[in-house]
Amino acid sequence: MKAGNKCGNPFRYGCVVEGGFYCPRPRLEKQLSGFIEAGQNVVIHGERRMGKTSLINAVVHGMRGWRMLYVDMLHVMTVGDICRRIVSAVRNMEGKASLFEKALRLLPRLRPVMKVDPATGEVGFGLDARAAEDPYAVEEVLDMLAKVAAKGRTVIVFDEFQDVANVAEAQTVLALMRGRIQFQGDIPYVFTGSVRSRMIDLFDNPDSAFYKSALTLCVGEIDHDAFSSFLRRRFEIGNRRISEETVEAIMSTVADVPGDAQQLCEAVWGVTTESVEPEDVDAALQVVFMREGDKFESFCERLSPVQFKLLLAIARNGGREIQSRRFLDEADIGNAAAARKAAMRLCELRHIYFFRGEYRFASMFFRAWLLRRGY
Ligand SMILES: Nc1ncnc2c1ncn2[C@@H]1O[C@H](COP(=O)(O)OP(=O)(O)OP(=O)(O)O)[C@@H](O)[C@H]1O
Ligand SMILES: [Mg+2]
Repeated sequence: MKAGNKCGNPFRYGCVVEGGFYCPRPRLEKQLSGFIEAGQNVVIHGERRMGKTSLINAVVHGMRGWRMLYVDMLHVMTVGDICRRIVSAVRNMEGKASLFEKALRLLPRLRPVMKVDPATGEVGFGLDARAAEDPYAVEEVLDMLAKVAAKGRTVIVFDEFQDVANVAEAQTVLALMRGRIQFQGDIPYVFTGSVRSRMIDLFDNPDSAFYKSALTLCVGEIDHDAFSSFLRRRFEIGNRRISEETVEAIMSTVADVPGDAQQLCEAVWGVTTESVEPEDVDAALQVVFMREGDKFESFCERLSPVQFKLLLAIARNGGREIQSRRFLDEADIGNAAAARKAAMRLCELRHIYFFRGEYRFASMFFRAWLLRRGY
């Protein structure tokens, strides 16, 4: 048997990481736990796969006597979705069916019914569909949440919070939520989301109900040295040798984005046996391209010629000053307005985002794939 195959793949991506799969981030952890201890509401900004959810999870689990009520708002479309997500989170946190039943009694307007699957014993629930579509239903649900949270030290996490702004009557819903949350002073709320620009709109725009309602924490690229050592140790756990230089090559391919680094390492692991050489990083990148190439291909097919040219130019030259004459000439784009419009669309499609004066790729793999195709 090959030495490296003694244990499973020590890398994980695309999910919340915990335990040995999680690399500690002491500075951010300390800041976040300090805010929570002080009962402060916090908004966590950061791009995709930077480790926002894993950080919150690690912090709350590391805080003695605290528990987390985690509400995933991803793709909520209606007020009813928001209500159901919150009630589901309460069900997930309250281990006993009797406690959950008690919580449901706090929602008289929503006429909840509790359902227990006789085969699995799993507890479900239903809410009155019409009542749950009334924006004011959110108030009742948040009041219930506050009562449940007050029973112990509880952090309430609203993840992918930007999607709340997608519901019809979003302004009313957000104003009602803000109104309720601001009177729940001692319960720390953590708001996070993976579309930085939309989260900034919600928390830093004076027209938004949530304007300045929470302290800000930014989760960016992970500490380079700490994460490089972490990745090295993960290889060594499986008896696989890797040099510092090879880890550097991995980190630079993914620009220190932890999710992409773990994805690339997972592929590196798959193409190696006992030791990892620099050329294995390239072989692993090919594996990632094989898995994701069709997706990248279809992304490109759906772009207009200007959008595609702009994307390619950003891949080649970086995303600074895209309206300058030099950039436009290199990109072969006629005028600044066309470049600006194309950039807006690429941001909407989440292929790129704007941060610290430049457009950046949301996925370093997409960037590398474009460059490799040699268009
Ligand atoms: N502290 C960490 N240690 C090790 N790996 C990490 C860490 N944080 C993130 N990752 C890697 O990034 C991936 C995504 O992490 P997570 O889901 O926490 O990020 P996120 O910022 O919440 O992403 P999204 O915006 O897509 O929800 C994980 O599956 C893991 O591969
Ligand atoms: Mg997340």
